[in-house]
Order: sequence, then structure tokens, then C-alpha cells
Amino acid sequence: MNRLAVIGQPIAHSRSPAMHTVAFEALGIVDEWSYEAIEVAPEAFVERTEALADAGYVGANVTVPHKQAALELAARASETAREIGAANTLSFAGEISADNTDAAGLLGALPSPPRGMRALVLGAGGAARAAVWALVREGATVEIWNRTTSKARELAAELGGTAADAVATPDYDLIVNATSVGMDPAAAPSGGGDLKTLPLDADGLHDRQVVVDLVYGSSETQLAHAARTRGAVVVDGLEVLVHQGAESFRIWTGLAPPVEAMRRAVRDS
Ligand code: ATR
Repeated sequence: MNRLAVIGQPIAHSRSPAMHTVAFEALGIVDEWSYEAIEVAPEAFVERTEALADAGYVGANVTVPHKQAALELAARASETAREIGAANTLSFAGEISADNTDAAGLLGALPSPPRGMRALVLGAGGAARAAVWALVREGATVEIWNRTTSKARELAAELGGTAADAVATPDYDLIVNATSVGMDPAAAPSGGGDLKTLPLDADGLHDRQVVVDLVYGSSETQLAHAARTRGAVVVDGLEVLVHQGAESFRIWTGLAPPVEAMRRAVRDS
């Protein structure tokens, strides 16, 4: 059996096990591959992850709050993971190697390449780092707003883009929420919060914009709802989850991921 897992805390509500299991079924390899969720506290992360590698697991996805620790743990890392400073995908063949598919996941979920777009990224944590890295690399003009302004400046200095003190909502072609605003409180270690805590003017959203909310939960987020009802193209967190999962799947299995089956799995679970 080729065993995979997603490691995080909290992890009970992760849709990754359902998504990857359906992918194995779709390709007829479910008897050879498995994917489970494993809850691990930060202080136990290194030990538990090395134990999985020693036990013969093929690899793992890593999520909040372990993505930086995952990069530090790995003997080798892709350029993407190193530059973003975080890893969400580990492979255990031989040495532990780290990759980051959050950036490719965001780009894959967009309706068109972001080259030349004026983009606003909200947030300056791990999710925002992957978004800024991806959008800058693809040739978008990126502005970064964060509740704690100094972190937006540091991120811009490191990965490109500019820190935005003020936000003019209608002016952006692309808006990415990479804060934890909109998360179910139980899944948001740093706070969750209401749409009003973001600098956006909901009535400034319009039908020539793409709005990505990396947050997903049991129902549509306030931001996704506000954008959809004003005609924007909305890319929700589940769509980005599917694309990052598909890239991880490709890394571990070497097979083309069955994206449509994976999408159905996350939407139904
Ligand atoms: P992740 O790994 O998902 O990016 P994180 O690193 O904890 O999580 O980052 C959370 C982000 O959400 C941060 O940008 C945080 O802003 P601060 O840097 O000021 O803490 C942002 N955030 C969390 N709660 C928020 C709120 N109520 N309003 C605005 N931003 C919020």
C-alpha cells in the first residue's frame, strides 16, 4: 500500500482525504493508494512526520500550522517552496523533500492567466506569501494589504509587489483574500472575523473582477457572496484546494490527476 496523509491541527474537517480517495478510485488504484488525516500538535510535528517517513509512507500534505516547519524539516526543497518559505507537500522517497503547490493551485484555479492584471492580495501570512509569489511571478501588478501593515511591507520587500495602505475596491482586476477572515472560528487559530474587518467596499465589487477567497467552510463566505451578487467571477477556496491537491497528486503518483472527480468530491463531502 502506498500511504499518504494530510497533517495539521485542526484537521478533522479537511476534505483532502475524500478528494484524494476519489482520485484513486477514478484511476482504479484505490487498492494500492490510501490517504488519511492525521492531527498533530506543533511540538510533535517533526517527530511524527519523520515517523511516517520511517514507516514507509510515500508523502504527505501539510497544512496549518505546520507549513514552515515542513520546509525546515525537509532535506531538499523546490525553488518554489524555498522562495515562498513554506511547504504543503512532502515526499518521503529517500530523503524528505518539500514542495509548495499552493501557488500553482491558485494559478490553476484562475479563469485566465493574471499577466498584466492589477491584483490585490489581502493578508501577509503563509497563504498570502504563496499568492503574492505566484502572481508576481506571472506578471501581475500586486498590491498587498494586511491588518498589521509592517508585515505587508516585509512581504513586499521579500517577494515583490507593494504594500497598500489604502484600497480602492473597484480598481482591481483580481482580489485574493488570503486572510483568515470568513473562516469558521474553530478552524481559524488567528481569529476568523467579519468581512467588515477587511478594507474592501462590498459595493465597489463589480462584474469585470475576479475575486478569489482562499477561505472555505460549510457555506459560501461573506466575501464570495458579496462578489457573486455583484457579478464578479468568484473562485472559492474549494476550487483552489482542488488544484493544489491535483498538483500534489501529480508529484506523488506521477499520474495525471482526475481533476473533475476531485472537484466533485470536495463539493459533495
Ligand atoms: P495562513 O497560513 O492561513 O496564511 P496566518 O499565517 O495565521 O494563516 O495568517 C493569517 C492572516 O489573516 C494574517 O495576514 C492576519 O493578519 P495579521 O498579520 O494582522 O495578524 C490575517 N487576519 C486574521 N484575522 C484577521 C481579521 N479579523 N481581520 C483582518 N485580517 C485578519
